[in-house]
Amino acid sequence: MCSFVNFNINGSHYKLPVIYGTFYEKAINISKLRESTGLITFDPGLKNTGITKSSISFIDGEKGELLYRGYPIEQIINQCSFIETSYLILNGELPNTAQLKSFSEKVKKFSFIHHKDINKILDNIPVFYHPMGILSSLTYILDAFMNSIQEEDLYLHLLAKLPILAALTYRKRMGLPPVCADPYLDYTSNLLKMFFSVPNKSYEPNPIISDTLNKILILHADHEQNCSTTTVRLLGSVHVGLFSSISAGMSALWGKLHGGANQAVIEMLEDILKSGGNIKKWIEKAKNKKDPFRLMGFGHRIYKNFDPRAKIAKKVAENVIQKLGISDPILKLAKNVEKKALQDSYFLEKKLYPNIDFYSGIIYQAIGIPKDMFTVMFALGRLPGWMAHWKEMKLNKEPIGRPRQVYTGYKKRNIK
Ligand code: ACO
Repeated sequence: MCSFVNFNINGSHYKLPVIYGTFYEKAINISKLRESTGLITFDPGLKNTGITKSSISFIDGEKGELLYRGYPIEQIINQCSFIETSYLILNGELPNTAQLKSFSEKVKKFSFIHHKDINKILDNIPVFYHPMGILSSLTYILDAFMNSIQEEDLYLHLLAKLPILAALTYRKRMGLPPVCADPYLDYTSNLLKMFFSVPNKSYEPNPIISDTLNKILILHADHEQNCSTTTVRLLGSVHVGLFSSISAGMSALWGKLHGGANQAVIEMLEDILKSGGNIKKWIEKAKNKKDPFRLMGFGHRIYKNFDPRAKIAKKVAENVIQKLGISDPILKLAKNVEKKALQDSYFLEKKLYPNIDFYSGIIYQAIGIPKDMFTVMFALGRLPGWMAHWKEMKLNKEPIGRPRQVYTGYKKRNIK
């Protein structure tokens, strides 16, 4: 479908094509606007700018819906594993039995790194350095080992190797020796073993924890053109390699207003508890424009309704805490904060609802992941999405990402 918008500038008439998406969302194609009118568009924060056509995930922010390759997140979470979801996101369709077997076997085959070289690097990174900085650095460095790998295998190498790097990052902090991948385990059970096994004990992954990890990784698997994904696409557009592009995506994800919010949420909830649990006081603080504090885990650029992932994460948190028999005052507090915030006109009028990060940290804590590893877990989950966007951008032969600006500095002048 194609139509046009007509407009006049200083008496001259112009028309620009309108393009339509699957759900009839409409976009004015302004790519020739400057050429014909001398004007550019101005959109700080890219709030109203579509930078690509994409067929990977779809968000209806008004309804609070999320689809991966057309399938609702609510169906995927109950019917697929993370590895199937990764296949779907990367390849566009769910795998049949043979495709899944071959995909999983390749991931297992590529589950190794050059431990000797990587450990030398790791040994020289201070132990107190944040795990996100370590993970993105190691991912970047790994690019150097990937020169001769065919592109189709690169995706599987990264899917196989990122859990190893994440586990090394965790184990360095804990003073534990590296553990190799176990080819007899599924993706999430292997991940847990690489994190938590200790030298003097055999490790049996707990199926409740493994299933919970599967679900939380699926919830993060893709989310269209968010800040980190856009970063990955921008780097890919100037032909930066896959591992380096993903490393840059991780740096973007680390930000507190993006994936770093999961750590910030738990820290905030702990502060609320420590200071006596007066939720009203903290909500007033978040509303106070003179105070930089924001209610972490609330609000979203696209969702102006419930984030469907937050609804699922809340149930997963309740479920794992109940099944593992944990008593967690933070979950109860989080539910009360949600309730109180959603009774407040500030949050209702601004359409600020809990996002994925509001409950995800509670899940991570329940399965033994320390706070400063939360964003690392987010990165592990987001990996298939980042890779699919990098792949799509290349297949679409997209031009380099290079925005314009409105210059407001000095006019041309001379050095006196
Ligand atoms: N607490 C208090 N007020 C908020 C919050 C919040 N969490 N979020 C937004 N607002 C207010 C802003 O102050 C602003 O008010 P104003 O219009 O009176 O100036 C208004 O709501 C709109 O906020 P923006 O920052 O303009 O909205 P934007 O879409 O750019 O930001 C964001 C979205 C960054 C997620 C924001 O809601 C926020 O900072 N939330 C807290 C951090 C967070 O949870 N990040 C995780 C996001 S999900 C993810 O990345 C995985």
